Amino acid sequence: MLPHHIVAGPASSPPWVLLHGFPFSLEQWRPQIDALSARRHVVAWDMRGHGATPPGDDPLSIEFLVDDLIELLDHLEIDRACLCGLSMGGYVALRAVDRHPDRVMGLVLADTRAGQDDNAARVKRADGIRAIRKSGMKAFADKMLPALFPAAALDPPSAAVKTIRQQIEATDPNGAVQALAAMAARLDLRERLSAIDTPTLVVVGEHDGLTPPKDARELASGIAGATLVEIKGAGHVSNLDDPAAFNDALAAFAKRLPLA
Ligand code: MLT
Repeated sequence: MLPHHIVAGPASSPPWVLLHGFPFSLEQWRPQIDALSARRHVVAWDMRGHGATPPGDDPLSIEFLVDDLIELLDHLEIDRACLCGLSMGGYVALRAVDRHPDRVMGLVLADTRAGQDDNAARVKRADGIRAIRKSGMKAFADKMLPALFPAAALDPPSAAVKTIRQQIEATDPNGAVQALAAMAARLDLRERLSAIDTPTLVVVGEHDGLTPPKDARELASGIAGATLVEIKGAGHVSNLDDPAAFNDALAAFAKRLPLA
């Protein structure tokens, strides 16, 4: 099943594919779509069960999301792309470069990590699934937003908080439940980072409490030649907390890519 996606910018330029976090949608990337598409071919897609892509009937795994990504690239006749993933999108991007290194010409890993869930995180995923089944996505958003954003952004809610609340509340509960199970079961990719030989940028918000700067440092130090940018004042959704700083980091990184 081809996921819902949008395409922007000149098709003749180097393609960038944007992979959103959990439980958001491609709309998470609006400031980056607007900035990148002035010069680049940009594709943003809704992962299964998020945005306008329905959840499938099967249990979800990161592997199916990688398969969907490759199917999308094939459909768009994109041979190699720069993958830019935030958090869950980073898990998918990392596994995609691991399985299909020939399809990736650059990697941006934002507010994410290479390790897998530990015991506590798996128990929390199970709690999350129960909470969604019992109380729905609005209550889930109430609980999740304080973990996603710096305290100063929450009261009054910043534009980023409002945008993300809307996306969480619009997510299909079945899709969110499946994604939680998929993330809990994902592989530990730390040992495989040294095999990555594509230009890589790691970005992290200074106040990211979910995938903190220490995880970003571990990620960057595992990938030869990776650069690390920490965005001051930003939380877990660093591309929305400070779109200008995030876009500057992307623009500087784009100069390192082939044909950029
Ligand atoms: C995300 O933003 O995609 C999630 O917080 C990732 C996670 O829960 O591991």
